[in-house]
Amino acid sequence: MTDSLLRFRPEFPILERCTYLVSNSLGAMPRTVPDRLAEYADAWRTHGVRAWAKGWWEMPITVGDVIAPLIGAAPHEVGMVPTVTLAQATILSAIPFTKERDTVVMTALDFPSVRYAVEQLAPKFGARVVVVPSADGISIDQAELHEAITPRTALVSVSHVMFKSAFILDADALVQHAHAQGAVVSLDAYHSVGVIPVDVKRSGVDFLAGGVLKWLCGGPGGCFVYASPGASERFAPALTGWQAHARPFAFDPHMEPAAGIARWLGGTPTVPALYAATEGPRIVAEVGMAAIRAKSERQTASLIALADARGYRVVAPREAARRGGTVAFDVPHGAEVAQALLARDIVIDYRPGAGIRVAPHFYSTDAEVERVVAEIDAILATEAWRPFAGSRPTVT
Ligand SMILES: Cc1ncc(COP(=O)(O)O)c(C=O)c1O
Repeated sequence: MTDSLLRFRPEFPILERCTYLVSNSLGAMPRTVPDRLAEYADAWRTHGVRAWAKGWWEMPITVGDVIAPLIGAAPHEVGMVPTVTLAQATILSAIPFTKERDTVVMTALDFPSVRYAVEQLAPKFGARVVVVPSADGISIDQAELHEAITPRTALVSVSHVMFKSAFILDADALVQHAHAQGAVVSLDAYHSVGVIPVDVKRSGVDFLAGGVLKWLCGGPGGCFVYASPGASERFAPALTGWQAHARPFAFDPHMEPAAGIARWLGGTPTVPALYAATEGPRIVAEVGMAAIRAKSERQTASLIALADARGYRVVAPREAARRGGTVAFDVPHGAEVAQALLARDIVIDYRPGAGIRVAPHFYSTDAEVERVVAEIDAILATEAWRPFAGSRPTVT
């Protein structure tokens, strides 16, 4: 079977140099990114401070417009912000907690950084956090999650796809249930946008935040926040900044939130990151989400089959509809095996409690998927992991 998506491989130079199976951490860089960064440098060199008036100031919205179609949002409904943690904290700061409605619902499998922020901030806003546990460390029981959402729930702030296990929550059902209870929903979509279809209009979600650096191949510093038009009308964040002001250049000492998505922005935008951020999403849009998802389902299924054939424990949902783009191999000496793979230029990452995370993307070949498993076999059989015993895992 020919894999027509492999025609995009030449767009990503790193694929020539290594087996790159880590798009769940940092997507491969498109070859055109250096041109975009040169444009940034040229604008700065040529225009100096006037560059702000030549597009820099509006970049959080104009770049957001590139992301919007990938999540089913309309133009001017997505803004670019520095991090997802900050986006979720900003959203929390907008929720009017009351004595009767004082609860934030999260899950045990949400990304810790977001949980840190929510758990630190919630008490300061008079709110408490309820965390729905995971029985198996892989999945969240959707019925249990729904049960935790009650008329006391003000905000549901959960991951759409879990970072360790790639378990997919049913966003549509979640939003429907939460709205029926009068709760607002904010999804952390870092592990969904770019690898599974996301449609904010279909789900009716109030907020959704993610980043371009993983599955969208857009590099660090380019995170995005979607707010539904209704949410932007109803709420304004306490955690704010001058880009969110209705008239930022009036330097009014008092806050008056801008209309629409701009009110979710903060201070000066991360301009160089925003130059780099658009190339990956542009390619992902060209490839098409349906094709990306179909290939991802097929390659993650073959990773699971290869693991099963060898008796390796897999940390990933078995059901394709509930599985995102990553399969974690929980093999003996996993941290050391991961180091040995990296030394062989097979780029993966390792997460305690999950194992070696393998994340093929639309540009990955089936041979690469088979190779990572064959190398795990070889490393275990020859004990090639031993030299890495006691060494600290590298950051990937
Ligand atoms: C699901 C999820 N949320 C949030 C983050 C981190 O967000 P940020 O560093 O942009 O705050 C990650 C990073 O891997 C993640 O996987």
